[in-house]
Amino acid sequence: MKYHIVTYGCQMNLHESEKIAGILRASGYDEEAPLEEADIIVFNTCCIRENAENHAFGNIGALKKLKKSRRGLIVAVGGCMAQEAGKAQLLKEKFPFVDIIFGTHNLSELPDLLARKKNERRVVSLYDARRGAEDGIQAYRTGYPNAWVNITYGCNNFCSYCIVPYVRGREVSRRADDILREVSALAAQGYHEITLLGQNVNSYRDGEVDFPALLDRVASVEGNFRLRFMTSHPKDFSERLVEVVQKHPNICNLVHLPAQSGSDRILSLMNRRYTREQYLQKVAMLRTAIPDAEITTDLIVGFPTETEEEFLQTLSLVREADFSSAFMFVYSPRTGTKAAEMQGRIPEEVAKDRLTRLIACVNENTRKKSERYVGRTAEVLCEDYDAKKGLYFGREPLGRMGYFRSETNCVGQFVRLKVTDARGISLYGELE
Ligand code: SAH
Ligand code: SF4
Ligand code: F3S
Repeated sequence: MKYHIVTYGCQMNLHESEKIAGILRASGYDEEAPLEEADIIVFNTCCIRENAENHAFGNIGALKKLKKSRRGLIVAVGGCMAQEAGKAQLLKEKFPFVDIIFGTHNLSELPDLLARKKNERRVVSLYDARRGAEDGIQAYRTGYPNAWVNITYGCNNFCSYCIVPYVRGREVSRRADDILREVSALAAQGYHEITLLGQNVNSYRDGEVDFPALLDRVASVEGNFRLRFMTSHPKDFSERLVEVVQKHPNICNLVHLPAQSGSDRILSLMNRRYTREQYLQKVAMLRTAIPDAEITTDLIVGFPTETEEEFLQTLSLVREADFSSAFMFVYSPRTGTKAAEMQGRIPEEVAKDRLTRLIACVNENTRKKSERYVGRTAEVLCEDYDAKKGLYFGREPLGRMGYFRSETNCVGQFVRLKVTDARGISLYGELE
């Protein structure tokens, strides 16, 4: 039987979908197929912002017809939105044709839920997200030559705007030995890029092993792979971590360090627990130790009460911290979070205008930094072939995507790209 998974949201969720695929494949759904041909369709949802939810709602709703015409088709909805307070009820009401609703801590229950579905019209299973995380689920990986490895689940930071701690539960660190075993197996299987995942990797701890110690051990695993990690919360980004990055040539000198805002007052309202100055000190500490290090970030505009001056501080932070790229968002109130209760909502047109100006500012920085690549050689790990462009592509260590022509299939290989052109975050060139 055939399955199709639709994923929304972050890397964490993409990896979670690989775990869902692993479970489905062990339950008789042994082939991935396009949506129209699937016997089961799973929506792995996100609720980080309202538009992520609207997107999922739209796509689930659009299945009504297919569900009528394909007898026996099972539609399942899981992930962060399914876990969100009240959303399972809303899903049930809006989409009576949905067969299974499962939460963020119910993945390993899926075979059971599928069996129950044979006798019940609809199955809903949600655990309290504060319950300890599930671990040890065998993922069916689809990202070769890249592999994701969880090191923590959940989050304890409670940034005032963010729903993740509520839908993913308290932070739990995996055992260091389990992580090392997983990474060794992936390296032995020929994966060439490994990304350690956690909402805040820097708060990882297993007994004596904290994140710098873990990273040091993972980077020492035998194999030909690059190592990345995300996300780093600036408050916990430490000198010891930078020392480990510096020590191992296989750890990419690229740090995703979400700043969120350049204004101290907004950072404090966001409960980020660092100031602009402290953030810039961490940036300087990294760049002093590793001059070629690059920093990417996440930024939010239109947080409640944000003034034009405070927004301008975010713009100036972009230039001061010299970000190579950024994910930028308009603040979206999430029910149940502290910020959703705050007065002083910013009108949508004001927030959108700030976003447009911020994007222009970041793009300008991205362009300037990428242009420096022209004439240089970049080491690219080829990920795939883009049939539309007729080009192979893959990332260089500092995160830019390199595009090139090749006579032979080089997916999964490290290649040397002589860069002839740079557009935004993309590089174009020829193989050396
Ligand atoms: N754990 C990571 C990021 C998780 S969510 C971290 O702490 O950085 C990814 C990004 O979504 C956040 O960095 C933030 O910029 C954005 N985000 C989270 N909640 C949001 C909200 N309510 N509105 C707009 N953007 C939000
Ligand atoms: Fe959300 Fe903050 Fe946790 Fe990141 S660190 S997941 S933004 S609460
Ligand atoms: Fe990720 Fe969205 Fe959940 S960003 S953790 S999938 S709310």
